[in-house]
Amino acid sequence: QLMKVFVTRRIPQEGFELLKQSGICDVQQWDSDEPVPREELLKGISGAHGVLCLLSEKIDKEVLDTAGNSLKVISTFSVGYDHLAIEEIKKRGIRVGYTPDVLTDATAELTVALLLATARRLPEAVETVKNSEWTTWKPLHLCGYGLSNSTVGVVGLGRIGLAIARRLKPFGVRKFLYTGQQPKPEIAAEIEGQFVPINQLAEESDFVILSCALTPQTQGLFNKQLFAKMKKTAVFINSSRGAVVNQEDLYHALSTGQIAAAGLDVTDPEPLPLNHPLLSLKNCVILPHIGSATYATRTTMSILTARNLLAGLTGQEMPSELQFSILSSNKLLLGLD
Ligand code: GLV
Ligand code: GLV
Repeated sequence: QLMKVFVTRRIPQEGFELLKQSGICDVQQWDSDEPVPREELLKGISGAHGVLCLLSEKIDKEVLDTAGNSLKVISTFSVGYDHLAIEEIKKRGIRVGYTPDVLTDATAELTVALLLATARRLPEAVETVKNSEWTTWKPLHLCGYGLSNSTVGVVGLGRIGLAIARRLKPFGVRKFLYTGQQPKPEIAAEIEGQFVPINQLAEESDFVILSCALTPQTQGLFNKQLFAKMKKTAVFINSSRGAVVNQEDLYHALSTGQIAAAGLDVTDPEPLPLNHPLLSLKNCVILPHIGSATYATRTTMSILTARNLLAGLTGQEMPSELQFSILSSNKLLLGLD
């Protein structure tokens, strides 16, 4: 008898075909680029053995209760798992697959692009060209901040954090600071990174980069106390999760000149409503959560999520399984790995 699988969105064909052709499952899909409505998610997951979901779907207690005892595996098309009720999932003996590694390069590259675009004010500069504000070459026009001789602070030196730092190093960064749950001397050696308390990182960094997981411990971590410690010339970059930042406090810091600029690939909520104050600021560059968005990476992610799902359904080893044991032993889970 075929196992029921629910796919919550249109995904790259390569992964979807793997599920179709496996011969072991009856694949149902919310066949759209738009998010699945809650009631369709509940309907789709009811009686399912496996679900392939995105980071935009909250898999909470209600969803799990609706799924019933049949549900064996959740395969998320993401490296982050803050949308999954991990404790509830663990209790029910459901396995979780996710997509670390395959998106590290794409996400690090996007973070560097966002950092440069924010520090050198590219969106603003492009606007001036289109608005006839480009009248002549001006010595003090559209000046920003460079990486040469800078101090870069990475919050969460996981795989992605390290990949970002590795890419920034050749720009002439003078010093890397990092913070997280614990020092990681072996990993940090490559960038000669120095482990410091978060307050010191905020005080000393020219660029502050968030690359940590969203957990109860990191929620709202960047608040007015921390922004107040940062340099007036600091550039703040977030490509992890929006909720790690208190956005009201960020708005205050940006609009009063407490920090120079921010580049966000993630916000809370997503999408950010058009009337959100952060969207009115010239010194805030906001992207629609495109860290892993290269064709190649998204294709690979679709294949990995399909393989994780199939392995979970047949009780085999998954290519990338979330290890609950590691999670529960980490009180402060920094480092979006
Ligand atoms: C993207 O944010 C992801 O978690 O994959
Ligand atoms: C800039 O284009 C310069 O020549 O300095």
